[in-house]
Amino acid sequence: MSDQFKRQAAERAADDVQHGMRLGIGTGSTAEFFVHALAQRVRDGLDVIGVPTSERTHQLATGLGIRLTTLDDEPELDLTVDGADELNSELSLIKGGGGALLREKIVASASRQMIVIADGSKMVKTLGRFPLPIEVVSFGLEATRLAIGKVLAELQLPQKLELRGGAGDPFLTDGGHYILDAHLKEITEVQALADRLVAIPGVVDHGLFIQLATKAYVADQDGVKTVLPI
Ligand code: 5RP
Repeated sequence: MSDQFKRQAAERAADDVQHGMRLGIGTGSTAEFFVHALAQRVRDGLDVIGVPTSERTHQLATGLGIRLTTLDDEPELDLTVDGADELNSELSLIKGGGGALLREKIVASASRQMIVIADGSKMVKTLGRFPLPIEVVSFGLEATRLAIGKVLAELQLPQKLELRGGAGDPFLTDGGHYILDAHLKEITEVQALADRLVAIPGVVDHGLFIQLATKAYVADQDGVKTVLPI
């Protein structure tokens, strides 16, 4: 069922793409529905150029005949379309479930607009039920973990941090970094947490996307809803 909703949200976003646009192309199962819908429009004659947010998306988009470039050649984009793990009514997001949060944030930040596509289960009142991905460098992992724990304690958040993939075979991002997933339950001070985390030297970035999304298409049994930030 959720696949059907993901597809509906993705197809709605593909309808918003206009001729000549420079696009950021997200990562994950919902973003993949978007890539397929976009590829159909390209086959029908739409001319766009895309910057993928992961190697996975790069492969899929190339295979489907979507013209790709890099942020070095196109540092300013018109629109990014991407999924999310959670979104709230302000269109603050948790992203990074697929491990692509850093490239996703760089690409979204380089875009004039960002459309989030999601099934209804991703919409929450308070962010935090989905574990917050924190991308960290491997050097000094334990020191970074300790520093993150202190920030969480100061903000009265649970300090449960899990190295994605486990110590024996840690997951590596496209940038060659590790991910610590923080099980926070409810993030009440989203901006404060975001600011404190990026101030830790071993933290590369985190999955909180604040004031980046300009619109969301959220699909459920009642159809596709347009959500604008309140
Ligand atoms: C990848 C992401 C994805 O957008 C997020 O995990 C949602 O994935 P899906 O569409 O498969 O539910 O942030 O880093």
